Amino acid sequence: MTVAANETGPESAVSLDGRRFEFTAPIDAAVEPGRFVVLRPDLGGAQLGQVDGVALEGGMARGDGRILGIISDDGGALDRDRSRGFGRATVADADAATVELLFGAAALGLPVGAFLDSGEVPARLLANRFNRHTFWCGQSGSGKTYALGVVLEQLLLHTGLPLVIFDPNADFVRLREPDPRSADVDTNARLAARDIRVLRPSSPDAQPLRVRFVDLPPRAKGAVLQLDPLDDRDEYNELVHLEAMIGSLTPDTIVPRLLERGTAAARALVARMQNLRVLDWPVWAVGAEAVTDVVEARPDATVLDLGGFAYPDEALVVALAVLDDLWAKREQRRPVLLVIDEAHNLCSPDQSSPLHIAVRERLIQIAAEGRKFGLWLLLSTQRPSRVHPSIVSQCDNLALMKMTSPVDLDELATVFGFVPAAMLERSPRFRQGEALFAGGFVPVPTMARMGVRLTREGGGDVAVPMR
Ligand SMILES: Nc1ncnc2c1ncn2[C@@H]1O[C@H](COP(=O)(O)OP(=O)(O)O)[C@@H](O)[C@H]1O
Ligand SMILES: [Mg+2]
Repeated sequence: MTVAANETGPESAVSLDGRRFEFTAPIDAAVEPGRFVVLRPDLGGAQLGQVDGVALEGGMARGDGRILGIISDDGGALDRDRSRGFGRATVADADAATVELLFGAAALGLPVGAFLDSGEVPARLLANRFNRHTFWCGQSGSGKTYALGVVLEQLLLHTGLPLVIFDPNADFVRLREPDPRSADVDTNARLAARDIRVLRPSSPDAQPLRVRFVDLPPRAKGAVLQLDPLDDRDEYNELVHLEAMIGSLTPDTIVPRLLERGTAAARALVARMQNLRVLDWPVWAVGAEAVTDVVEARPDATVLDLGGFAYPDEALVVALAVLDDLWAKREQRRPVLLVIDEAHNLCSPDQSSPLHIAVRERLIQIAAEGRKFGLWLLLSTQRPSRVHPSIVSQCDNLALMKMTSPVDLDELATVFGFVPAAMLERSPRFRQGEALFAGGFVPVPTMARMGVRLTREGGGDVAVPMR
């Protein structure tokens, strides 16, 4: 059923059940899915609605949407539990103050940008809903890392939720430095007051990113040495022996001690260590503070620069050490948000080295059971299929940036059934920095243009040198 536009003016709507509405608009009204509208029935109070889908038909835009609640007479509250059907209503853009009603008085909405289709209305994410897992998806260059930065800055400004950032491209290593273009002295001062620790493999102005081999659980030690407890039982058994005394050993004393044992398995284990060059890895803390000590103290943010190691497995060792330690101490229920950019590095379904498997298994476990212990994930990646499905399916919040692949969008539609199809379909047309948010951390699915970063971006593209 549709309403003829000329009956009631330029845009008009009808609702049979008070839950959904249908509307007709002139073609130049540029109505898009996601837009917020105020519906004013001929009888009864105004209601807030959101457009789901639009199609062109007979020279008109026709579409439908959801009714979100009744606006109080003074415009100061939204009753989301009530709405009424109507035979005819006018349709107009909702202004900023009306859209803000969605967030209620008590909820803390982090400003992350502006709504795409409702002018300069601030778009917000619900800070209290980062106690769920979040999946952040978009093709390369869509603006994921930048947008993550915007969200993390707001979490730092407005919450006490400690962040641990797994940063594969050194994008967040300057999170402590205000962007010189940002003139907001007050905000800069508040950010500067937060305790942000940046750990890097080797950098003169950052704390070294180190792991203590002795602290790794036996299974993780085995993974470092690519040992299987059953297939390689003799060598694994030597490792267990070594474990008993390893607390007093440094990397350079491990080999002599093993050779002293004189067994074939001990010699094999030495050869394995030497072939893998494990003892040469700079990641081992000798005397230095280990990453797990830093995270244990729960600074406001800990940035782990995983990109600068000489051996690729070192980044996995850092991730495993941190995740295993948090898991081992889960009963303490000290909240932390684990932000993993390029999450496919750590939990792709396609990797099969022992370290990859160990990291992925731990992440699958945290995805499944971590929530109640305060271990929350925020995972960013380019394609949904690049993160293990058991992890994606545990995410309650979705952020989607530009993604053109229909296969990937279909997959997201299946996993995140709560996202209106017409909104997902807009993703291929997104510009850089535009995002769709759905799930618990928004009151209704919303599309936004991300705001600007307050602190400096690290990493970044290398420019082509010009003559
Ligand atoms: N909202 C934005 N405003 C300004 N620049 C942006 C924005 N989003 C992304 N960029 C810039 O575009 C480039 C690619 O963005 P990035 O966040 O790294 O993409 P992705 O992580 O999805 O590959 C970066 O140089 C970044 O600075
Ligand atoms: Mg990125």
